[in-house]
Amino acid sequence: MTRQKETTRYGDWEPEEFVGNGEAVLAFLGDYFAGIRDLPVSPTVDARTLSAKLDVEMPQVGEDFTTILNDTRSLIVPYLTHWNHPRFHAYFSNTASLPGVLADTVSSALNVNAMLWKSSPAASALEKTVLRWMAGMLGIAPDGDGVLVNGASLATLYALTAAREAVSGLDVRERGLTGYGRRLRLYTSDQAHSSVDKAAIVLGIGLENVVRVPADDGYALRGAALAAAVRADLAAGHQPFAVVATAGTTAVAADDEIDAIADVCRRYSLWLHVDAAYGGFWRLAGSGAEAAADLARADSVVANPHKVLYAPMEVTALYCRHRDALPNVFRLVPEYLKTSPDDGVVDYMNYSPQLGRSFRALKLWWIIRSFGVQGLADRLQRSIDMARWLRSAARADPDWQVPVDSTYPLVCLRYVPRDLRRRYGREPVPLPQIASLNAGILDAVNASGSAFLSHAVLRDGYVLRVSIGNIRTEPSDVEALWTTLRSSAEQVRDGRWAPR
Ligand SMILES: Cc1ncc(COP(=O)(O)O)c(C=O)c1O
Repeated sequence: MTRQKETTRYGDWEPEEFVGNGEAVLAFLGDYFAGIRDLPVSPTVDARTLSAKLDVEMPQVGEDFTTILNDTRSLIVPYLTHWNHPRFHAYFSNTASLPGVLADTVSSALNVNAMLWKSSPAASALEKTVLRWMAGMLGIAPDGDGVLVNGASLATLYALTAAREAVSGLDVRERGLTGYGRRLRLYTSDQAHSSVDKAAIVLGIGLENVVRVPADDGYALRGAALAAAVRADLAAGHQPFAVVATAGTTAVAADDEIDAIADVCRRYSLWLHVDAAYGGFWRLAGSGAEAAADLARADSVVANPHKVLYAPMEVTALYCRHRDALPNVFRLVPEYLKTSPDDGVVDYMNYSPQLGRSFRALKLWWIIRSFGVQGLADRLQRSIDMARWLRSAARADPDWQVPVDSTYPLVCLRYVPRDLRRRYGREPVPLPQIASLNAGILDAVNASGSAFLSHAVLRDGYVLRVSIGNIRTEPSDVEALWTTLRSSAEQVRDGRWAPR
């Protein structure tokens, strides 16, 4: 790590050197992708050891690129959890597809700032195009507004900022939080993502005013339950203003009852934001389409290509049905950013608080053109089919339970072996016992490096979550995972596994 560069030049490369180094980088990445299946999905290094390796003194003199690349190979890659790995099944698994990877490289190299149309015309024009394409994939009318942002959490914040601005007589943009008198109330289900709460914190709504309506037995928010909560708040003198419904909830990938929720929103003049961060794009697959909720009635929608469409982090699409609702909150043009208006121009700096913006549209353009909509649909369907296989394998095994179904490729399952159930006779096995058994399985699988899972705690206890969505996952990976799950379960049950 300490070998110093011999030239007196500082850091940057001549174009020929760039090409040579670029070839070395491509060879390195080619090897990484070719060998990814053989890497442990997740490292077993403790934080102290890893920090000791990386927390070195900063270099005063430029170093040789070969050393930097070698250090990346030996000090970084082995200590990553590989989201690109075919047996990465935690959270909502995603993949950087290779066209997306190279498009991001090109986008960095071109280094344009897509804040104004004028500051980068083709980047803004392309953003318009890919947003229109993805609106088509999501079943959203293309005549509203859209913008690419970094993630769903911020997209929800921006959408709810527009929702708050739509409350008549409030005008926070101009007057600030001047003591409106009534509590603004925001509704979502008890299953919604924590980004809804974070938005309430940032917007001054306050966590107390996020009404977490209990979802039904299938973990979906129902229109009737929402309507009852709204009515109760109106009777108490509060001001309901917005609802966040989810298509593809985080724990179990349930869909809220979006049509009925949209009816309630219309009845009480509430802004409906749909968090389709995960659920949005699965409708491209044939079987996803059958069950897909109608997003067209939402006031705003967020969907994540970096979760589902094989786009490298970070890119999220935010749509708003009401033209100008986003710019009406965020447009603020200091003198130095003024440009002459022209037909068809979109200045994306007006659609969120972010001014300098990277060229996110390029990777979506490359990905959608490389796969085609049909290619994407086929890949998504494969994931759905693999998840179906795992669900039925687990259902067929009397030692396993699949407590909840999903139309998405997220399988929630838990190990409750027959001998344990027998021990409790007619009584249910205590939840803490099931939790500790299954948490042990999670640790054992993850420590093995052969797969990487996450967990959730449902109303009826702990579950292991297996998210299938990586582009390289093959049926044989899911079969291998099922074998690993069962053997790890037996080891944990018999006390043959202990954390290292
Ligand atoms: C349903 C849902 N919404 C929002 C988010 C946040 O997404 P991001 O990481 O893009 O902010 C997640 C993350 O997993 C999610 O599951």
